[in-house]
Amino acid sequence: MPTNREMSELLKKKNDEAELGGGADRIAAQHKAGKLTARERIDFLLDPGSFVELDRFVTHRCSDFGMEDKKILGDGVITGHGTIDGRTVFLFAQDFTSFGGSLGEAFARKVCKIMDLAMKTGAPVIGLNDSGGARIQEGVQSLAGYADIFLRNVLASGVIPQISVIMGPCAGGAVYSPALTDFILMVENTAHMFITGPEVIKAVTHEVVSKEELGGAVAHNSKSGVSLLRAPNDQAALQQIRELLAFLPANNLEDPPLVPSKDDPNRVDEKLDALIPDSPNKPYDMKVLIKSTLDDGYFFEVGPDFAKNILIGFGRYNGRVAGIVANQPQVLAGCLDIDASIKAARFVRFCDAFNIPIVTFVDVPGFLPGTDQEFGGIILHGAKLLYAFCEATVPKVTVITRKGYGGAYDVMSSKHIRGDVNFAYPFSEIAVMGSDGAVNIIFRKEIEKAKDPEAERKRLTEEYRATFATPYKAAELGYIDEVIEPRFTRVKIVKALEMLKNKVDKNPPKKHGNIPL
Ligand code: HXC
Repeated sequence: MPTNREMSELLKKKNDEAELGGGADRIAAQHKAGKLTARERIDFLLDPGSFVELDRFVTHRCSDFGMEDKKILGDGVITGHGTIDGRTVFLFAQDFTSFGGSLGEAFARKVCKIMDLAMKTGAPVIGLNDSGGARIQEGVQSLAGYADIFLRNVLASGVIPQISVIMGPCAGGAVYSPALTDFILMVENTAHMFITGPEVIKAVTHEVVSKEELGGAVAHNSKSGVSLLRAPNDQAALQQIRELLAFLPANNLEDPPLVPSKDDPNRVDEKLDALIPDSPNKPYDMKVLIKSTLDDGYFFEVGPDFAKNILIGFGRYNGRVAGIVANQPQVLAGCLDIDASIKAARFVRFCDAFNIPIVTFVDVPGFLPGTDQEFGGIILHGAKLLYAFCEATVPKVTVITRKGYGGAYDVMSSKHIRGDVNFAYPFSEIAVMGSDGAVNIIFRKEIEKAKDPEAERKRLTEEYRATFATPYKAAELGYIDEVIEPRFTRVKIVKALEMLKNKVDKNPPKKHGNIPL
């Protein structure tokens, strides 16, 4: 019978073996590819010394294709919990050095175990993805394993934040677990996501495309919108995840953490009075305005490369987290199009699910016209954003900075869809459409008949602008609560969020709504 000491030595040996994953050569190859190992990633992400590993000695039970002789402790994924800024998170890190990080039945059980614990304890789940996908030797059992994870992703959606970091390959059906999570961050050059890779595409459609062009971080952050965050390397990616988590509550029953700031809540910014040009057709950078209003000017932007005509992200007002949604007049004049609607709608729903108040800055001339947009389904996609704002019961503060035209005015967190506090700048124009367009339609005949049609057009346009293209009609009707000077924007938002901090609002009981997907 072995002595206790010998058994302790066995434990040490097993621990050492588990630490090595797929072995020194594969670790060297991982580093050569510019990637950290799964364990190094965990160490970098979590507070020092906080990681508690589970299932370190799990191995697969596959006996086909000689697999019974190939077992690696941990089976290709490292799972457990730890803390980030002192707050508990669960995580799994796919270990590319073990069977290419491929997912089999035992691997999936490990991931499901920590997802179940995260749900029971109400803590976020972070997945570090770096995998060759379904473990081919395990066949349908690995597909079953994926489905077990997908189901948990869906059940956890809106209950605990779920974050995916793609740090290597992520292909085929494997992409759907990240796709079901709240945020996908990709590492440039090393991360690739696609349903079918370049080889299959070439065989089926004869298109030639590299894996970087097809599914790299730049492609997904700028073209598909599948991923809305990216980083140049593993370390920067993990640092971004730490920053992101600081804005999020641990679960849907908690409020996001309050982070006191030295930035004066009563700070006024005179420069804002000159930010917005007199001419309604001249662009300006909405980001300048957003940053000026936030604590320490810190705006954690999400999706900066996709649908740039709308800005989304997180910031704080006097320590209180808010989700920001804003039209960007610098791009497509701030019009809402398909991509912008989808990007913002998903963000609004995330904020609403996790008790994050929404501050909306509006400068929108309308929906983008064109056959591309119509055939692409702007009607349904625009309705997503409308639906999301209508449904949201978190505190909603809106600032109309210039244009609030047409249906897009209604959509952008207007009073009518339960905006709680709606501000407008003195020179804002809240109308069915711009003055030029309006006059051309309603006074077409008068202009044609006039002795000097151009002079008449100008006169009528001025008259229309003075009557309707102001915030005062809306203010008279109570659709705008207060007309404010730009310099006071921060002060006003801080006060509004403070007043709304205990807001309770409800939607009618139902199984779930039917958002126009
Ligand atoms: C088993 C795998 C594997 C897999 C890689 N490996 N993918 N083992 N199942 N899916 C193993 C390799 O055999 C190799 O083992 C080691 O991992 C490293 O792989 P390499 O090919 O040497 O690495 P690299 O050249 O960097 O290429 C990485 C790769 C490639 C691009 C991921 O391995 C690859 O194309 N793998 C197959 C991808 C795939 O088709 N997966 C199934 C997708 S379908 P050794 O012992 O030599 O080191 C899918 C369905 C999910 O996932 C459905 C869910 C519903």
